[in-house]
Amino acid sequence: MNFTHRPVLSSEVVEHLAVKDPQVYIDLTSGGGGHAELFISRYPKIKAVLIDRDLTAVDFLKNKFKDCSNVKVVKSNAGALDKILFLLKINRADIILADLGVSSHQLDTPSRGFSVKHDGLLDMRMDIEETTTALDFLKKVSEKELKKILSEYAQERESGRVARALKKAVSEGKKTTLELAEIVKNTKRFFPRGIDPATQVFMAIRMAVNNEMTELKKMLERSFATLSENGKMGVITFHSTEDRVVKNFFKDRKDLLPYYIEDKVDNIVPAGKVKVYKPVLPSEKEIEKNPRSRSAKLRILEKNY
Ligand SMILES: C[S@@+](CC[C@H](N)C(=O)[O-])C[C@H]1O[C@@H](n2cnc3c(N)ncnc32)[C@H](O)[C@@H]1O
Repeated sequence: MNFTHRPVLSSEVVEHLAVKDPQVYIDLTSGGGGHAELFISRYPKIKAVLIDRDLTAVDFLKNKFKDCSNVKVVKSNAGALDKILFLLKINRADIILADLGVSSHQLDTPSRGFSVKHDGLLDMRMDIEETTTALDFLKKVSEKELKKILSEYAQERESGRVARALKKAVSEGKKTTLELAEIVKNTKRFFPRGIDPATQVFMAIRMAVNNEMTELKKMLERSFATLSENGKMGVITFHSTEDRVVKNFFKDRKDLLPYYIEDKVDNIVPAGKVKVYKPVLPSEKEIEKNPRSRSAKLRILEKNY
């Protein structure tokens, strides 16, 4: 099977998440395994756990790493990291990566119904075993709730107008990506230059359908808890709503410190600290080669205790 996805910030991810002699790598959103492959070739003995909620990605990854006995591929929501590690009998990880959002493979496969450019039924499920498609979601959600979602997730200035138009369109039987993208385009009076007017609206619907913000918060909590002494976690975000969540999560962990523990004679002593690095952005060269990287931002946290 062909799986096209060019990993963003790839050399930066490997360089900034490097730790000494890592034993376990967890990729929470493995997609086509581009980042995972780089880590596995850099640390050939590392035990790698590759997670994705998309069956197509999982099948692809299983085949790609079929000769690597140190790689375990898991189909799951990354928010269930604690359960996955319990089943795999893994307590700690030295490097954890989450590269959020969708893969190019998902976006560019018309039948997955994610894209404003390719025609297909509006679906947008990352996990096709889930029952609610984006079309079902649009039919069920109230106009008021949809307005809130568009405004919170996509900072949509015309959320009320767009929500009303989308509700009307699906009640009249419109159901494909291109039909609904056209409705958004004809409804909006203002839109940013250079991107399709429906892009942000589609992104907000996708985030709601896949419950992405709740999953993100769970995966951050569970990753931090799993990180070993001197371990590093990196998160690549693609828009301000998810980036803010990651930024605040990292900041809160940093501000909590120093952590205190009891030593052998029951004294309370500082246990260590958490270091948060400056975000890393793609170079102009990368953006030119891969325009999808333009909004990527890599945040890194290191746990020194
Ligand atoms: C941007 S792609 C990752 C690409 C990957 N880093 C690579 O190098 O090919 C995002 C992937 O994460 C998956 N994904 C998004 N949210 C997830 C979640 N909460 N749990 C598991 N997988 C998730 C998507 O299905 C998609 O395959």
